[in-house]
Order: sequence, then C-alpha cells, then structure tokens
Amino acid sequence: MFCDFGLQILDSEPGEGLAKQRGGARFAPPPASESQLAKEERPVSVPRHIAIIMDGNGRWARERNLPRIKGHERGAESVRAVTEACVELGVEYLTVYAFSTENWKRPKAEVAALWMLLEHFIAQEIPTLMKNGVRLEAIGRLRELPESCQSALDNAIALTAGNKATTLILALNYSGRTEIIDAVRTLCREALAGAITEAAIDQDALSQRLYTAAFPDPDLLIRTSGEMRLSNFLLWQLSYTEIYVTQKLWPDFGKDDLRTAISEFNKRQRRYGGL
Ligand code: FPP
Repeated sequence: MFCDFGLQILDSEPGEGLAKQRGGARFAPPPASESQLAKEERPVSVPRHIAIIMDGNGRWARERNLPRIKGHERGAESVRAVTEACVELGVEYLTVYAFSTENWKRPKAEVAALWMLLEHFIAQEIPTLMKNGVRLEAIGRLRELPESCQSALDNAIALTAGNKATTLILALNYSGRTEIIDAVRTLCREALAGAITEAAIDQDALSQRLYTAAFPDPDLLIRTSGEMRLSNFLLWQLSYTEIYVTQKLWPDFGKDDLRTAISEFNKRQRRYGGL
C-alpha cells in the first residue's frame, strides 16, 4: 500500500504480519511504477517504534490566554491523530510520555486535572481503539496512579489486548531512572533467591526486567516544542534511537508533522557504533 506522502508500507492491512519482523525499521522494496520511482529515489522505511515527548501544552494554552489544562486537552487530540496516523502507516509501537514521576511537583490542581483527563481519554477512546485495531499498554509505576485511573486502564488494556495493528503505550508516572532502579531491584531479588547468577546479568537480562521488556527499542524519538533534552524518558531504550526535535507545540502536532518526522528519519544513517 502507498501512503499519500509517498512512504511505501509492506502490508496490505495496518500492522498485519509486522510482529514477525524484529530489529528496527522495515525497509520497503523500491516503488513499482515509473512515476513512483521519480518521486522516490530510494526505498523508504517506516520506524517500527516511535516514542514521543509531548511538550508545549502549557505554552500553547498561554499563547491563547487559556488555562494550562486546555493545552493538555488539545494535546489529547494530537495523541488521537498521531495514533491514527501510526495505524495508517503501519508503525507497530507508539510510546507517548503522558505523565512523568517528576510531574507530581506541578500544582495540585493541574495534577488532578491531568489524571482526570487521562482517565477520561482512556475510557472514551475504547471504541476508536477497537475500530482501528489499537492495543493499549502502559509503562511506569502504575500502582501509584489514582485508583479510578488504574481501573480504567486495566479495563482498556484487557479489552484491546487482542488488537493487532499499532500498540499505543502510555508512559504514566514514568521515569527512565526509576524504571532502571525497579529492574535492578528485580535482579537483586532473583540473585538473592538463587534464580540468577552474577555472570548471567547482561544487557539482555536487564532489558528483560524493564517495563518495556515486551517491546522493541524505539527507532525514532520525537520531541515537540524545541527543547533538546531527554527528560528522564526511556533512558536505556533510546541508546541508538534517532532523535527528531520540532519547534511545533504538541497541541499543534498532527499527522503531517509525523510524516515529516518519518521523512527526516529516512535521511539518517543508523550505524549502531559500526561504520
Ligand atoms: C508537557 O507539556 C506535557 C505533559 C506534562 C502532559 C502530557 C499530557 C497530555 C498530552 C494529555 C493527554 C495525554 C494522553 C495520553 C491522552 P507542558 O505542560 O510541560 O508544556 P509547557 O512546557 O509548554 O508548559
């Protein structure tokens, strides 16, 4: 199937058969027709996993003299649009940084409003997720979430578990450092119980104990609103990820911006430390 901006996707159905392919972005064969060849000088790849730091909701609201929560609400609409685009393009995994462990430091009213918005979004999106074949997942210290949000999340995860297109992973009460600490604690417990030897603790062993054990590392990280930092997001998993930063504020980020980011990704040469 060809997408409207010229990226070629291997599968006839969104996400179909993609789980079989491991190890990063998929490279499509050259376009078939001459006119397509003129447009595309080389094969184009779609990242298998895209991670996003959704920044700039507050600034978007301030520019419009609106309360910050209005920016988060518009940000939720961008999540919906970008998830849909990922399904259309055949991106297998989309991870969005929705609430960091540091976000608890924000004013109580904003924190409460954010959790209400997240709970509302999770519950309200189920029909759309089902229609588009999106499986919902979450990473973070989830037992510390407000209880009603945990229930909504558990329910949506269970209902969408069989969906085969894009997996949308919400990073909630997440930080890369706490994730690594939690994984190290798991390894310590297993070592003390005699279930793992010191020699068996390698990169794979640690990766398998991260919240993301079931997902491949991101191929592309997108950060909106211009800041050049990782903000404690997926610190282990982003080791070889291509980074794309745009000045656009998250509520203004849409499907076309995702396509631009993927086009930029296609200009990168990924060498993983080799030549
Ligand atoms: C950062 O912008 C954004 C957040 C801390 C929250 C992200 C949450 C959403 C986009 C809401 C909906 C999410 C889902 C998954 C439905 P900021 O508030 O720090 O912006 P600023 O830097 O301009 O102040």
